[in-house]
Amino acid sequence: MKRILSVVGARPNFMKVAPIHRAFAQYAETWEHHIVHTGQHYDAAMSDAFFSDLDMPHPSWFLGVGSGSHAEQTARVMTGFAQVCMEAKPDYVIVVGDVNSTIACALVSVKLGIPTAHVEAGLRSGDRSMPEEINRMATDAIVDELFVTEESGMKHLRNEGVADHRMHFVGNTMIDSLHYALPKAVKSTIVHDLVLKQGKYALVTMHRPSNVDDPEQLRMLIDVLTTVAITQPLVFPVHPRTRKSLATLAMEIPEGILMVDPMGYVDFLALMRSASFVLTDSGGIQEETTALGVPCITARTTTERPVTVEIGTNVLVEPTKTGILGAVNRIHLGEMHRGQIPPLWDGHASERIASIITSHYS
Ligand code: UD1
Repeated sequence: MKRILSVVGARPNFMKVAPIHRAFAQYAETWEHHIVHTGQHYDAAMSDAFFSDLDMPHPSWFLGVGSGSHAEQTARVMTGFAQVCMEAKPDYVIVVGDVNSTIACALVSVKLGIPTAHVEAGLRSGDRSMPEEINRMATDAIVDELFVTEESGMKHLRNEGVADHRMHFVGNTMIDSLHYALPKAVKSTIVHDLVLKQGKYALVTMHRPSNVDDPEQLRMLIDVLTTVAITQPLVFPVHPRTRKSLATLAMEIPEGILMVDPMGYVDFLALMRSASFVLTDSGGIQEETTALGVPCITARTTTERPVTVEIGTNVLVEPTKTGILGAVNRIHLGEMHRGQIPPLWDGHASERIASIITSHYS
């Protein structure tokens, strides 16, 4: 029996690993699959809620690293994960996404000579001021196997000299989770609980350092939301980073903007699928809205997920008043394209990953 460890750390990792865990259950005679949680995110709303929503087992190891500077956080994850690798002696490690826990654990396992895979490899925004871009490039440069969600990822990896046999276009494990949880989301009462009407509200999320750490930028964004909220209510689940920054602004938030705590996965999915549009600076939400066919305005000038713009429902806009209000107007005028589902975003990416890893390593 071989042992495989998948790492989760921050909120967007949970939905990428949950279906991988289920897929390896199909190979239980070969693999014992375990989840390691670094504890990069630790608030119940940012972490615990996802385990129950996604029917994930408790992590076998929890490192409890918490917050800190990039250097501190990365270093703590590395020290903790090295200890786990010593104890668990894994035969294979999977890291997902682009957060600090991703690169930290990849560095540890690759240096210990453990075969390591990156799920969601090859995505590039071209914006090196984003910490995630550095995490993606560094992780892809060192891992053994690279699992890719969209064609652009294959192109970037080829350009960076990755050999063809190491990269696999398998689709998107985040969309596997979306398919899995949709029946639960359909039953969620959150839209009703928040006194909203299907299709008659917009959903907002903002947490990128470039949008929320600078008080002037955040003030401008709240100002824009205040204008949008005149025509329809906005629900805004507030990330802890944003909440902290908002507290320093002492701004009056109008009634039309419903600020709520970060949500569990199922309720958030329910809010997304019934929204008239979503305004965000997240990476994953660009993909989820494309899969759901809901218009998405991304307040960023670049995206590492171009398929969501090319064939999905996403538009990129300058994170300015003119940029955002222009896109909202186009939605009101019915000018947004309906979009299509990208290739292999069919709910079976994790099964492909488990099958490929098993054929290479058993
Ligand atoms: C991280 C990821 C980002 C991802 C986001 C999703 C990196 C570099 N960034 O950003 O790619 O989109 O998660 O949420 O890994 N905090 C809490 N409770 C928590 C977690 C964080 O209060 O459970 C607060 C802390 O004050 C912390 C701040 O939020 O300092 C930022 O947390 P951190 O994990 O450093 O980065 P995120 O902005 O969450």
